[in-house]
Amino acid sequence: MPQPLRILITGASSGIGRALAEHYAQQGHTVAAVARRRVLLDDLASQHPGITPFEADVTSAAEMENLINRFAIEQGGLDFVYVNAGAGQHAPEEGWDARATRSIIEVNILGATNTIVPAVAVMLRQGRGRIVGISSLAGRVPLPCAAAYGASKAWLSFYLDSLDMDLAPRGVRCTVVMPGYVATPMVDGPDSALVSPGARRAAALIARRVARGDRVIRFPRRVALLTSLAAIAPRSVRIAAQKRRLSRRKVQRGRPE
Ligand SMILES: NC(=O)c1ccc[n+]([C@@H]2O[C@H](COP(=O)([O-])OP(=O)(O)OC[C@H]3O[C@@H](n4cnc5c(N)ncnc54)[C@H](OP(=O)(O)O)[C@@H]3O)[C@@H](O)[C@H]2O)c1
Repeated sequence: MPQPLRILITGASSGIGRALAEHYAQQGHTVAAVARRRVLLDDLASQHPGITPFEADVTSAAEMENLINRFAIEQGGLDFVYVNAGAGQHAPEEGWDARATRSIIEVNILGATNTIVPAVAVMLRQGRGRIVGISSLAGRVPLPCAAAYGASKAWLSFYLDSLDMDLAPRGVRCTVVMPGYVATPMVDGPDSALVSPGARRAAALIARRVARGDRVIRFPRRVALLTSLAAIAPRSVRIAAQKRRLSRRKVQRGRPE
């Protein structure tokens, strides 16, 4: 077996983060699973001896710096960091509800920065490592009902893509992952029209492409293609298509329109 990797994953108590932690642990790698819900982390760690739970809030810069340094010292290095913890919802008021918008900025932008900055410091000292940001296809093109969320993900993609240019000559690389829809607690129901993969399948795909060294990962292919088309479509077509899709989801979930 190749050398086990030392991997830190934020938002590992649920959804994509939990599936990534399980995927890597099953392959024999050492995983730091970071999130706020200790009970879920303990349950995860009890099933996988390679997973160490770290109860922390990504919005605290001090907590994140301490735990990243601690894990790197204890394990003798840090190979991958998954910047995965995220907050969001699909609702028109998301973009002007002060609480929702603030939480998205605090977790998706400041929380990501609190994870990336100390991880980069460790990796620069080592002269190698990879930061993997779980962004979103929602950050590729402005759409209704995702104003703050989409903007926060556009920021993460832009930040990591630019950072990669500065870090690559020093051995540290960045990968931007842009999922479309993955069936997790964050999305309130399967979107069969968009063929949502489950978290386990999504994690396996991400891990395979990260191992290959991909800089940008977009999936599912059909949603990625639709998003590319939306980026060049007239604004009115984009708005109508998104509204039609959201109302179709309401019907699928059995609610009257
Ligand atoms: N599901 C999708 O369709 C989809 C599509 C595109 C992108 N994404 C992105 O994928 C990532 C994972 O989302 P998911 O779908 O797997 O959702 P999820 O199941 O709701 O998981 C979100 C994770 O983030 C953690 N988290 C939230 N706030 C945190 C904080 N302040 N400190 C530490 N951890 C925090 C949660 O843990 P605790 O609550 O225990 O802290 C949880 O483990 C997110 O960045 C999301 O934006 C998801």
